[in-house]
Amino acid sequence: MTGHLIVTDEDATRVITLRRPDKKNAITQEMYRGMSDAIDTAQNNPAIRCIVIAGGSGAFTAGNDLEDFLKDGTSSADAPRASNAVKFLYSLAHNTKPIIAAVDGIAIGIGTTMLFHCDYVLASTTTTFSTPFIHLGLVPEGASSLLAPRAMGHQRAFAMLVMGRSLSAEEGRLAGFVNAVVAPGHTEVEARKVAREICSLPAEAVALSRKLLRLPPEDLTRRIDQESHLFGERMRSAEAVAAFKAFFSRKRT
Ligand code: COA
Repeated sequence: MTGHLIVTDEDATRVITLRRPDKKNAITQEMYRGMSDAIDTAQNNPAIRCIVIAGGSGAFTAGNDLEDFLKDGTSSADAPRASNAVKFLYSLAHNTKPIIAAVDGIAIGIGTTMLFHCDYVLASTTTTFSTPFIHLGLVPEGASSLLAPRAMGHQRAFAMLVMGRSLSAEEGRLAGFVNAVVAPGHTEVEARKVAREICSLPAEAVALSRKLLRLPPEDLTRRIDQESHLFGERMRSAEAVAAFKAFFSRKRT
């Protein structure tokens, strides 16, 4: 648990809440580590039957902290990409408990791609989903290049992941990766309701049925590795470093 992440167990549901409102819940290395631990430690805990990921009102998350990207992009170290982000993605790939996302406001980058690993997604009417990888000179991550076309078809995934087009909550619902659109301020309440519903179902049958629906973890981690390799290379590209610097200089110009 860190200052920017709250993890609580409510009955049989583990609730992971991003709490960095002054930075629109941009995810730091420490936050990735906390989210990863919260998911990993739920795996062998029979008392936890569901996981909720929430971001509070206004911002689910502005994605990876761009200062970290800039540091990685300009570093001379060999490590391709901040390893805690990849570890978090691995935790999602190996997770066996149903995950419900409560998205109330912007969901950028990994804020959208992590949703393709979730089992039930609630979005508020003010939510926008965006994966601006292309505008940052980057490539898709989080196995989204595998999961997004599977969820919404190649053409929609192309517009989102390759052209960098955003989707509204309703467009996300029509595309198939959002279950329900609710009023702002209501996503967490609804997520808890869905969690209670799932927790009331026979646990072993839920686990088996969920596994049947999902791709094997090895397929996901293989794609995560492929994407991470390219992503790491792209982070050091002139296009990407210029885009990161432009973000932080935008208010000074
Ligand atoms: N990393 C680090 N800091 C971020 C951030 C990110 N991904 N997103 C927002 N912030 C910070 C801003 O620097 C700002 O900090 P400051 O008050 O110290 O200057 C604060 O959060 C508020 O953001 P601001 O841009 O002032 O708010 P806004 O309402 O005008 O715009 C966003 C919000 C999210 C649309 C905009 O901040 C944005 O585009 N962020 C970058 C998103 C992104 O590209 N993420 C990576 C995806 S791969």
